[in-house]
Amino acid sequence: MKKCLIIYGSPRENGNTDRILNYLKEEIVSKYYSHNSVYLRKINIIPCDGCDICSQSLNCKLKDDVDTILKDIITCDLILFASPVYFGTVTALAKAWIDRLQVFYKNKSIITNHKKLIVVSVAAEKNKKVFDSFTVVFKYVESALNIKETKTLFVNGFYEKADIELLLCKINIKEYYDFVNEL
Ligand SMILES: Cc1cc2nc3c(=O)[nH]c(=O)nc-3n(C[C@H](O)[C@H](O)[C@H](O)COP(=O)(O)O)c2cc1C
Repeated sequence: MKKCLIIYGSPRENGNTDRILNYLKEEIVSKYYSHNSVYLRKINIIPCDGCDICSQSLNCKLKDDVDTILKDIITCDLILFASPVYFGTVTALAKAWIDRLQVFYKNKSIITNHKKLIVVSVAAEKNKKVFDSFTVVFKYVESALNIKETKTLFVNGFYEKADIELLLCKINIKEYYDFVNEL
């Protein structure tokens, strides 16, 4: 069975991005993939300190919970990632996790399979431009993780926690079903 890694990047428990990820996990991913969920708010993440040891070796010197996730990233086929928009970009939690992908950015030989990525975000503002910085950030993530296909699921106009039906009525869920199932 193919493997999916699900990264919850919001500090808010059971918020909008959690709800969308739970939906995708239960209704789409779990039928076709084995999966592992990581809640960034619950784990210990040491921020990258730019030591650059990963330029000379295939390892990151930092030993924390991200260390285990890095191993999961190597073998997974699909990454489901979510972060709400905080001050125009991903949350600090999500960015701390992304910076730790530097070991893969510096050593492109570690990851040999082509992965798919779904990036989920929710923002309060109604203008779609609020997600512009995600395009920039995830261009680097795609390069680091050998991601060949990315799909975004961006939902505007929600500040408070909303029901999943309200969140999903703004998107075409079949597109995500098809994306996950095109193996
Ligand atoms: C610290 C903070 C910063 C935020 N910054 C933005 C922002 O720049 N633009 C925006 O549209 N919404 C912003 N929001 C609103 C969140 O994106 C919105 O509440 C989202 O639904 C939260 O998702 P969650 O429930 O998954 O945590 C911010 C919220 C917080 C708490």
